[in-house]
Amino acid sequence: MPADSKDTPEKTFTLTNDQTGESVKLPVVEGTYGPHCIDIRSLHKTTGHFTLDPSFTATGSCKSKITYIDGEEGILLHRGYNIKELAKESTYLETCYLLLYGELPKKQELEEFKGHITNHTMIHEQIKAVYQGFRRDAHPMAIMCGVIGTMASFYHDSLDIWDPEQRRISAHRLIAKVPTLAAMAMKYSKGQPYVHPRNDLSFTENFLHMCFSVPAEEYKLRPPVVRAMERILILHADHEQNASTSTVRLAGSSQANPMACIASGITSLWGPAHGGANQAVLEMLDEIGHKDNIPEFIERAKDKEDPFRLMGFGHRVYKNFDPRAEVMKESCDEVLAELGIDDPQLELAMELEKIALNDPYFKDRKLFPNVDFYSGIILKAMGFPVEMFTVLFAVSRTAGWISQWKEMMEGNSLKIGRPRQLYTGAPERPYVPIKKRK
Ligand code: CMC
Repeated sequence: MPADSKDTPEKTFTLTNDQTGESVKLPVVEGTYGPHCIDIRSLHKTTGHFTLDPSFTATGSCKSKITYIDGEEGILLHRGYNIKELAKESTYLETCYLLLYGELPKKQELEEFKGHITNHTMIHEQIKAVYQGFRRDAHPMAIMCGVIGTMASFYHDSLDIWDPEQRRISAHRLIAKVPTLAAMAMKYSKGQPYVHPRNDLSFTENFLHMCFSVPAEEYKLRPPVVRAMERILILHADHEQNASTSTVRLAGSSQANPMACIASGITSLWGPAHGGANQAVLEMLDEIGHKDNIPEFIERAKDKEDPFRLMGFGHRVYKNFDPRAEVMKESCDEVLAELGIDDPQLELAMELEKIALNDPYFKDRKLFPNVDFYSGIILKAMGFPVEMFTVLFAVSRTAGWISQWKEMMEGNSLKIGRPRQLYTGAPERPYVPIKKRK
């Protein structure tokens, strides 16, 4: 199996124009795994045609060594390591190192990395003022778009994106500071004072501490809850060229500031078809209300005239169980048992899952529960407000976004991303002065 893609392809793909009979041979590029790609970069020059793939259902936008998904088999690998093993054996910071640098760290390397991240968790005092500009009831994802964009103005040194050392520091700053900014967004909406980071705690413990401690009472860390949070962070850390990651890469391709690129990723993540689904799952369970109402909602999800979709079900790439959902379900059981929570919403979710998995509509379309189906239930049990769920996804995905940005910047062929289109508007016509318009 090739270790890298083959740039001098032995294989080609011939495309024939049925109208003219003319043929063009296009190179076929192979990766380590996954479908081979037809390299169409010469297509326009040789044939005058573009390709049309509006939602990128059959388009590879880049070469990447970071993450591999086999959607048919339900496999997710980061740098060759299976997500289920990482979730069980690794930590979030170790996974971040793996995504950023390509290998699992040795002991010394991990200690240095942890030290560097820990030393960057505090944020500039002036950033606090930015929060005051938001309404108290602002969605925390709106706050995150704003404050992370603001960070670009605080770190001028990170503006030299061609310097590998500055890129490394920018990546570490983001992984370290986004949790602090997220916890502050939660505190702001609750009207509680911000809680400063503590260097004696692990990354995940510190995050929970910043979210839940109050001056009057220290948050009591419970190991199973810390472990579940750690798993949530590992499971969401990267997912190859999804909408938000592609947004970060596209923004970065114009040589923009990395912090601003991450802010653009946050915006893309927010929608309910992507990271916003974990919030949407709980809202949907609330709307369903009772087991008896499930059949009605299943029928609505199948009705093409009704915009309702079963949130937490289906995935563009997975046509099998999302491996992250399997781990998440396990964690969900552990956390609810530890916290002694008997959640009727979980019962409702289980029943919904059972009915949907046995329904021909969902079976035929290979619609399985995805990672967001269970994460919301765990996060709610931990005490996070529903609006924070997508923010937690963003905290974790920051590692993937910045690793993908770093990989793109390290390549020797950075070129601005510039898709083309099929114009379907009016043909050229003369301007009509307003008085003459009918
Ligand atoms: N409920 C009902 N029908 C669905 C659903 C659903 N959740 N998902 C897909 N379908 C149907 C869809 O209507 C289509 O039917 P038909 O072939 O008859 O037209 C078929 O299944 C294929 O769906 P699609 O819309 O072509 O699939 P897609 O790849 O464009 O969309 C998706 C993927 C995740 C946006 C979609 O499945 C969805 O909206 N799911 C609910 C939202 C959700 O849970 N999102 C989280 C994704 S995982 C976390 C992340 O990576 O961000």
